[in-house]
Amino acid sequence: MTDLLEVRNISKYYSYKNGWLTPQRVCALEPISFSVKRGETIAIMGETGSGKSTIAKLISGAEVPSSGEIFLNGELLDPNNHQQRCREIRMIFQDSLRSLNPQLTIGKQLLESLLFNTKWSAAEQQEHVYVTLQKVGLLPDHFDFYPHMLSSGQQQRVCIARAIILEPQIIVADEAFAALDPSIRAQIINLILDLQEDMGISFIFASHSPEIVKHVADKILIMHRGKMIEFDSTQALLTNPKQQLTKMLLQSEQLNKALKHTTTQE
Ligand SMILES: Nc1ncnc2c1ncn2[C@@H]1O[C@H](COP(=O)(O)OP(=O)(O)O)[C@@H](O)[C@H]1O
Ligand SMILES: [Mg+2]
Repeated sequence: MTDLLEVRNISKYYSYKNGWLTPQRVCALEPISFSVKRGETIAIMGETGSGKSTIAKLISGAEVPSSGEIFLNGELLDPNNHQQRCREIRMIFQDSLRSLNPQLTIGKQLLESLLFNTKWSAAEQQEHVYVTLQKVGLLPDHFDFYPHMLSSGQQQRVCIARAIILEPQIIVADEAFAALDPSIRAQIINLILDLQEDMGISFIFASHSPEIVKHVADKILIMHRGKMIEFDSTQALLTNPKQQLTKMLLQSEQLNKALKHTTTQE
């Protein structure tokens, strides 16, 4: 079976001007390679500034790599062909709730991608929006709601609806659920797992939460200062981590709390 996504030696350098000095170059991502199978879930973990968002942006096409190539179903993705990318790979951003337009109804926002990417009639587009709302646990009535009329959990469902509406092969999420209440977060994660099973979508997500990662990920990619330092199955990294950082990142939040508690008691 060929891999759905193959990332080959992609890297990213940013240049920025610091006053009158010559432009500075920052290496956000050293060349990395990995592949993702259909329906597989990959978690990206690492400290702040380690390159997680950079990987997410390069895969989704929001940034162009400084070197390397990305293949989808064996076909080279053109970094500048947004239409091709936009259908097959969708991104849910870190501040996804703020990405909803407060002045447009949910229905209109969902119709937008269909207008630009399909040749369907108005009635077909509307029907597809209703079906998608139902897929994410919302009602056809929500079509006419404005974002402020929804709870944050429902708004997150709209963001997921927007991500799946073109039936993509891959969803990339960059710490998209960190701001949600733990109970709502659990519901949203379970929704994604259900959609993944129904639609065979591969899911690549950056997360700080060992609980979510252990619950959801088939494989984990560990980043440190722009380098991939480990990439293996969740099981392998839990039972036999080669790096101390992997061990620390995967230590459960509860265990961390318990350790803090015992040290303060001593
Ligand atoms: N637009 C940019 N211009 C300059 N440097 C950037 C830019 N975006 C990210 N970086 C740098 O690249 C590195 C990796 O950033 P990022 O991928 O956002 O890390 P993470 O998501 O793991 O916190 C950081 O050192 C960051 O400062
Ligand atoms: Mg980030």
